[in-house]
Amino acid sequence: MRRFLLLYATQRGQAKAIAEEICEKAGAHGFSADLHCISESDKYDLKTETAPLVVVVSTTGDGDPPDTARKFVKEIQDRTLPADFFAHLRYGLLGLGDSEYTYFCNGGKMIDARLQELGAQRFCDTGHADDCVGLELVVEPWIDGLWAALTKHFMSSRGKEEMNGALTTASKAFWRTDPLKPELLHIESQVELLRLDDSGRKNSGVLEHNAVNGGHSTALIADYEPSLTRSVPPLSQASLNIPALPPEYLQVCLRESLGQEESQASVTSVDQVFQVPISEAVQLTTNDAIKTTLLVELDISKTEFSYQPGDAFNVICPNSDSEVQNLLQRLQLADRREHCVLLKIKADTKKKGASLPQHIPERCSLQFILTWCLEIRAIPKKAFLRALVDCTSDGAERRRLRELCSRQGAADYNRFVRDACASLLDLLLAFPSCQPPLGLLLEHLPKLQPRPYSCASSSLFHPGKLRFIFNIVEFLSNTTMVVLRKGVCTGWLAMLVESFLQPHTHASHANGGKALAPEISISPRTTNSFHLPDDPSVPIIMVGPGTGVAPFIGFLQHREKLQEQHPDGDFGAMWLFFGCRHKDRDYLFREELRRFHKLGILTHLKVSFSRDAPVGDQEAPAKYVQDSIQLHSKQVARVLLQENGYIYVCGDAKNMAKDVNDTLVEIICKEAGVEKLEAMKTLATLKEEKRYLQDIWS
Ligand code: 2AM
Repeated sequence: MRRFLLLYATQRGQAKAIAEEICEKAGAHGFSADLHCISESDKYDLKTETAPLVVVVSTTGDGDPPDTARKFVKEIQDRTLPADFFAHLRYGLLGLGDSEYTYFCNGGKMIDARLQELGAQRFCDTGHADDCVGLELVVEPWIDGLWAALTKHFMSSRGKEEMNGALTTASKAFWRTDPLKPELLHIESQVELLRLDDSGRKNSGVLEHNAVNGGHSTALIADYEPSLTRSVPPLSQASLNIPALPPEYLQVCLRESLGQEESQASVTSVDQVFQVPISEAVQLTTNDAIKTTLLVELDISKTEFSYQPGDAFNVICPNSDSEVQNLLQRLQLADRREHCVLLKIKADTKKKGASLPQHIPERCSLQFILTWCLEIRAIPKKAFLRALVDCTSDGAERRRLRELCSRQGAADYNRFVRDACASLLDLLLAFPSCQPPLGLLLEHLPKLQPRPYSCASSSLFHPGKLRFIFNIVEFLSNTTMVVLRKGVCTGWLAMLVESFLQPHTHASHANGGKALAPEISISPRTTNSFHLPDDPSVPIIMVGPGTGVAPFIGFLQHREKLQEQHPDGDFGAMWLFFGCRHKDRDYLFREELRRFHKLGILTHLKVSFSRDAPVGDQEAPAKYVQDSIQLHSKQVARVLLQENGYIYVCGDAKNMAKDVNDTLVEIICKEAGVEKLEAMKTLATLKEEKRYLQDIWS
């Protein structure tokens, strides 16, 4: 077997899942992959690696590589490394990203560029997959192309001898080839290959004989299977279709309780998990607002948890109880929900390098796993659908499932699965004859991720407390029937605080003597740069429509306390561009913001209302934050270009952050009298200097 090294740099498990898919498919193409997380640097050594390297890299935050790749990136960015440090290395890279963010696929691009600088050479083109339109659009063809590229690589280097040796022992072979990729038909000159069409028949009776290309061969040889080539098999058996892999590699045994060790600490990879009570909850919007925004305050006084304004933290949330119970019912496992799940890798598994999913703790009940460990709402990937085909008994249902995961069915998959926000349960209800084994679900359902929230308070202002805000997410799931669903975490939080929610008010009230407060588990997030400047005299501009205002409340509270402590201190201007729909429905923190403004802490408060009609014959005011920024272009340019100021943008990545960025480009062009490209460079420099900071999400 020809070996390659397969590394993944993952944040939320997608890059890992794709690397695992590559690893799984490798065997069928005559390769074996050594699969490792890029952080496991003790398991591989690129400096001495002679096998080709395949890397799958995702992107997180503001175009950063995932946390798991930080160490790796730091190491390869060492400027003292010589330019030929990786001259021996051949690699292929697949980057994952989301074009809704400014720095699309930046994690992959950064690693790719640095590997090149250090002399490594690509053996296949780099792929950039876009989560915005569906990763699979690039991922699937990229993986298909990888096998041909790897074969070419091995044939042109040390793999050639090995391959030639094997081939000269065979006289004839039949291969099924992809009619769409004729370039795969370059064949070894000493071997006769019969080309079969898709149905396994000999293709127009032509014997592809002693083909050209100087004895080199490509992907065909990747499927080389000596036992099938010793003699010419009858045509009916000749389609060298790769035997289907067993659908699941996990063997699951359900035992009556063994004394489970179930704690939320076991469902996250971070060390520190703090269980904290909710001390207050306020609805910040009126009941007729389009979205409901809640503020939740946590009492962290009895823990070691600490934060700075601008930090974010994770909430560890469970799946909805009713969805878990419905899934258990549908899987006919409801009576075994309390059973302990024991996992083993199947002895005969074909999945190379298979390991137990790390996000499923040992000795936990089935119910605990479905509640706390697996994203049961995740939209099933095509690979999952493909695996479900084998567990479906009804012919029509099998055909439909197969169609949905075929290339031709891509539009249907997008329409009926992805855009419809279908979950596994929705699929199982739509395909009643599908009865998947538990192992398959545990293999394909991704890890239930903790949800990040921005801190909306300062611990100077609210000692021992941590506040955050969120919109209750609601969306239509449209599979067998249309249902209104709430977000996994925000729906759960809303339910938790329902009983002691304060009625709508712009000011918040303490939770005076209410019933026992529910507790939630939180964990810190790795530190970011979204912090106030060290020097408080530097002017700052904050842009945060909707719940994007959250970190700025923390900034303002912090500044208020600093000013109290240093009444003669030099404090720079603070601008806030806030936007909401209606002045009297969703103007979050109205009273607080007005107070900061009155105190002179918030020197400029600019609020735009996107859906309020202008009063009387007033000229239409700014609709969105960027319109308001545009109205103040001179002052904004001065802060950024002359006064060494900072600009912070928080909120929606899809539209707002992009539009604000475009507006800043326009302003710089206008105010500095430069071309667009120059203005973009100026903004890029501001970003590099960490004076243009974003905390954005979609
Ligand atoms: P809209 O929904 O009325 O269009 C908070 O969500 C605020 O952000 C709302 O007032 C919303 O307006 C506004 N918003 C929507 N799209 C935006 C964009 N592209 N740029 C800035 N604000 C936007």
